[in-house]
Amino acid sequence: MSTNMTCGLYPGLFLLLLCLLHDSEETCPSMCLCISDTASCSSGGLSRLPLSLPSFFVTLDLSHNHLSWLGPGSFQRMPRLENLRLAHNQISTVSHDAFRNASGLRHLDLSSNKLRMIEQHYFQGLWRLEELLLFNNRIAQVEAGTLNGLSSLKKAYFSFNQITHFPFFSIQDHSHPFLTMLDLSSNRMSHLPWEDMKTLPGLVQRGLYLHNNSLICDCSMYSVFWHWNLRGYDSLRDFTDELTCFIYGEPRAAIRFLRYNRFFHNCTVEKAVLQPVTVLLSNVLVSEGERVRLDCQTSLNSTDLSFTWFSHSKGYITQSSINDTLISLFPNGTLEIEETKVNDSGLYVCTAVDIKQALNATREVNVTVLLPAAESFNTGYTTLLGCVVTLVLISMYLFLTPCRCNGCKQSNPAVIPIATCDPSTLSSVFSCTTRDQSKIHTNKHVVFTEPMMMEEGTEWTSES
Ligand SMILES: *[C@@H]1O[C@H](CO)[C@@H](O)[C@H](O)[C@H]1NC(C)=O
Ligand SMILES: *[C@@H]1O[C@H](CO)[C@@H](O)[C@H](O)[C@H]1NC(C)=O
Ligand SMILES: *[C@@H]1O[C@H](CO)[C@@H](O)[C@H](O)[C@H]1NC(C)=O
Ligand SMILES: *[C@@H]1O[C@H](CO)[C@@H](O)[C@H](O)[C@H]1NC(C)=O
Ligand SMILES: *[C@@H]1O[C@H](CO)[C@@H](O)[C@H](O)[C@H]1NC(C)=O
Ligand SMILES: *[C@@H]1O[C@H](CO)[C@@H](O)[C@H](O)[C@H]1NC(C)=O
Ligand SMILES: *[C@@H]1O[C@H](CO)[C@@H](O)[C@H](O)[C@H]1NC(C)=O
Ligand SMILES: *[C@@H]1O[C@H](CO)[C@@H](O)[C@H](O)[C@H]1NC(C)=O
Ligand SMILES: *[C@@H]1O[C@H](CO)[C@@H](O)[C@H](O)[C@H]1NC(C)=O
Repeated sequence: MSTNMTCGLYPGLFLLLLCLLHDSEETCPSMCLCISDTASCSSGGLSRLPLSLPSFFVTLDLSHNHLSWLGPGSFQRMPRLENLRLAHNQISTVSHDAFRNASGLRHLDLSSNKLRMIEQHYFQGLWRLEELLLFNNRIAQVEAGTLNGLSSLKKAYFSFNQITHFPFFSIQDHSHPFLTMLDLSSNRMSHLPWEDMKTLPGLVQRGLYLHNNSLICDCSMYSVFWHWNLRGYDSLRDFTDELTCFIYGEPRAAIRFLRYNRFFHNCTVEKAVLQPVTVLLSNVLVSEGERVRLDCQTSLNSTDLSFTWFSHSKGYITQSSINDTLISLFPNGTLEIEETKVNDSGLYVCTAVDIKQALNATREVNVTVLLPAAESFNTGYTTLLGCVVTLVLISMYLFLTPCRCNGCKQSNPAVIPIATCDPSTLSSVFSCTTRDQSKIHTNKHVVFTEPMMMEEGTEWTSES
């Protein structure tokens, strides 16, 4: 009966439904639309969960209803459930064991509801959960253990709530190895536990969204963002204008701190981050063939440190592993590369270990090896490309122009200009580039005097 009604309402789907619903027509609740392994009960006017949901559904859409809570074992008869959509309801409570026997859940959408608090037990047992959507609720508190056990979590969205504190400390490399997105934007955080944030796994730091909060401007806040900015994280780059802080906590004195950094002139950015376990980043520019020395100065000042360097091109480098005469590692941790090659470019990470005190400190150096004639080559290449395009255009012109018999031979001279652009004529290639030399130098100048870099004491240890 109900199936027939549904099909009457959706005549275009009639044939499809007839086939797919053959087995399930007794079990699909009347207000839902069931297609293969998906049940859509969206906008069904539901104020409680349908009682008879077939057990084989993988996707259940209950969004845009009037559900106000999730009782114990709400989904226990749906062992194959992976996607549960509960957005746009009135849910304010999730009881203990709500997701009992629903540990297959991968995607849980509770956005646009009325949750005020995320209690420790809410998502218990959901160890396969990959995506958790909680934005646009009224969440003021997230209990410390909430994310415990969600070891498959990849993305968590908490934006547009009223969160003042978040349990960052519960996120560690081993506890959430796949987490790459943590959205806490548009909340009410004024202070962040910077010590906890600095020890967040790198992937989480990279995907941490914190814009449009009520941050109070201070040096420790600034230094963390300064380092993240230096690494070019998208979460900062895409929201530079929304990253604001309040001077002396005064909302009317909000500044975009990555743009207007004058307030932080007195902050010693590196010092503020200098804790026993720290990551410092500096940039080194060097021309190919030159020697470069990369310091491994960290906060550890013991005289008995052991150093390990790692880079993608050279792998792990320790005192004992060096069998290449062009590389040396000095006892003070400094790594020397005798003749740099372009493919030596990349991030070099030094780890200093103080075995006695069981302390580690890391230093990162971003090495860029420039090919001396790199720019000339590029311009030459562009010129070459231009010639090829011209050639093609002229050929097309010649080919497509209707041939008037006596004009055929006269069209040949049109090809002559190409000869002056002959890529084998090196002089012509390089003469094209001289025009651009001044521009290149200007660019370099801009890079070197870029204010943040110089003022905040980043090192430029390039040697020539
Ligand atoms: C639900 O989980 C309990 C243990 O938590 C287990 O004893 C029970 O068999 C499960 N039920 C189903 C239908 O899988
Ligand atoms: C910033 O957050 C507030 C709530 O904290 C919200 O009302 C506002 O729309 C957000 N602004 C933007 C631009 O997202
Ligand atoms: C290293 O420097 C290069 C060029 O200067 C830049 O493109 C790259 O993003 C930098 N890498 C990091 C991790 O900062
Ligand atoms: C920075 O320090 C100078 C003196 O060292 C002081 O006059 C100035 O007020 C300080 N600026 C801020 C923003 O604290
Ligand atoms: C290392 O620094 C600490 C404080 O940062 C200091 O107490 C200690 O004496 C220093 N050790 C050496 C060998 O300089
Ligand atoms: C880097 O380039 C040199 C030649 O310039 C080559 O011999 C070497 O194998 C390259 N190394 C890597 C890791 O690609
Ligand atoms: C250097 O040693 C590594 C292993 O420690 C080895 O894989 C590599 O082939 C060696 N290179 C040379 C040039 O001997
Ligand atoms: C480390 O030692 C090398 C060689 O003795 C020296 O050139 C370099 O300046 C030293 N680095 C630091 C940071 O002291
Ligand atoms: C230091 O690093 C090593 C591996 O590089 C690790 O086993 C050790 O736990 C680290 N120690 C501290 C105190 O972080």
